[in-house]
Amino acid sequence: MKLLEATALSHQFEYPLFSDIDLEISAGETIAIIGESGSGKSTLLHILSTLLEPEAGEVKLLEKSIYNLKEKALVSLRRDDLGLIFQSHYLFKGFSAYENLEVASLLAKEPIDPSLITRLGLEDVIEMKVTKLSGGQQQRISIARVLTKKPRIIFADEPTGNLDNKTSLEVMNIFEEYVLQEQAALVLVTHNEAFAQRCSKVYRLINRVLVQTK
Ligand SMILES: Nc1ncnc2c1ncn2[C@@H]1O[C@H](COP(=O)(O)OP(=O)(O)O)[C@@H](O)[C@H]1O
Ligand SMILES: [Mg+2]
Repeated sequence: MKLLEATALSHQFEYPLFSDIDLEISAGETIAIIGESGSGKSTLLHILSTLLEPEAGEVKLLEKSIYNLKEKALVSLRRDDLGLIFQSHYLFKGFSAYENLEVASLLAKEPIDPSLITRLGLEDVIEMKVTKLSGGQQQRISIARVLTKKPRIIFADEPTGNLDNKTSLEVMNIFEEYVLQEQAALVLVTHNEAFAQRCSKVYRLINRVLVQTK
């Protein structure tokens, strides 16, 4: 089943960013998007994940054309089916790390997986308020929170950018296992070539087009 199907996407801010981008992702696939800073990777991820309507083109998620959906349908798609791991973590600031996972667990009616907490090295900080955590710890909590929701499609923008090597590797392992087990999909923006090459497909955003290199 196709989980994501984007056709002829174009977007510009002050200057044209990219045009005529096509992209497809099936259940069980992971795809990487690489490219220089400023090439438009984050913008593309926002477009693919319902946050920014493109100037031209269409995005279908779970076979629904998202920019034609009513706001209510869009909200439930985001809540039930999408997992967004972006650089500004949308954690609940007054809550502890564990409470952040509990909120996701309650909303999604899915249990918290304790092995996620240990594998991400969060046991020692799990009771702390998220505002007391380092950037990397907050990043790991937002990864755990998104996975607790059990989304069909995960969009991750440089999720390992501020993590050490060992933790980054574990995050990649967790993503890969999750996608296979749940027949979900991952769209990963990364600067890490080795992580990109672990994905089913690799795309480079260069000269305003998206080129598939694997
Ligand atoms: N909301 C916005 N308004 C105006 N320009 C933007 C906006 N978001 C991004 N840009 C510009 O678009 C270009 C691509 O940004 P971005 O998608 O963040 O690239 P990347 O993630 O590849 O580094 C940059 O020049 C950036 O300044
Ligand atoms: Mg970016």
